[in-house]
Amino acid sequence: MAGLDGQKVVIIGGSYGMGFATAEMAIDNGAEIAIAARGADKLNEAATKLEQRGNRLVARHALRIEDRSSVAAFLADCTPFDHLVLPGSTVKPILYGDLTEEAAHASFDSKFWGPFWAAYDGRRHMRRGGSVVFYTGVAAHRPVKGYVMGACINGALNAATRSLALEFAPLGLRVNAIAPGLTDTPLQDILHGHDKEERYAEYSARLPVGRIGTAEECALGAIYLMQNGFVTGQVLGIDGGHECMA
Ligand SMILES: NC(=O)c1ccc[n+]([C@@H]2O[C@H](COP(=O)([O-])OP(=O)(O)OC[C@H]3O[C@@H](n4cnc5c(N)ncnc54)[C@H](OP(=O)(O)O)[C@@H]3O)[C@@H](O)[C@H]2O)c1
Repeated sequence: MAGLDGQKVVIIGGSYGMGFATAEMAIDNGAEIAIAARGADKLNEAATKLEQRGNRLVARHALRIEDRSSVAAFLADCTPFDHLVLPGSTVKPILYGDLTEEAAHASFDSKFWGPFWAAYDGRRHMRRGGSVVFYTGVAAHRPVKGYVMGACINGALNAATRSLALEFAPLGLRVNAIAPGLTDTPLQDILHGHDKEERYAEYSARLPVGRIGTAEECALGAIYLMQNGFVTGQVLGIDGGHECMA
């Protein structure tokens, strides 16, 4: 029997990157899947691939994580489900000196408030034994230049993960987070298309593991957090040793 047999996994941000890799792995582990993201074309393409892989229907919904009412409606449509996985958000790197109030709020609205309210609105549709998986990042602990907003949001989400583990416990639900380090996903093309190769080379030289990460390695972490019923309130670093980097 596969580890997620009979369980339903809802992924906001499931059309590419870590979310899509997690959807593929969850299907291989026996789960039913529903995915959401902003771009309808990539979402449909991803859902079709997942349907072929699992030989079962994959629900999909185009939405923005910042749009709480659309997210709540999607989660209500998915009811009942077991796991809520939340990699989908947008934070653009920006130096502190160039920051505007508007950009700062937009970042929090996307990567903090989006997943925060999705968990709040989703919990009433989740079956006991399920879990929430947030995505934070290494910048919370070891700063990366240009990622001050990411660092603040990741720190806040790490704190929320521990608090919500307590708050969700009476519902029989666990709450954890993944803190990725530099990982080769389409996000890197979007944010660092111009200097991606230089960044990869620099981090590969400095990280203890000698390379950057893959979406599949982060997906393995999400599967572990969903399956292991004794793990809650944890922030799982999947980062090639970023904190001990040279
Ligand atoms: N990759 C890294 O090096 C790295 C490092 C540290 C932390 N992280 C964090 O890990 C998580 C996943 O990263 P990733 O690299 O897999 O990202 P990615 O490759 O950009 O994939 C993001 C997924 O989320 C969707 N999405 C993006 N913004 C959204 C929004 N506002 N509303 C709804 N869906 C949205 C995307 O589809 P659409 O564009 O069509 O919406 C896509 O399906 C993120 O929270 C990221 O900050 C990543």
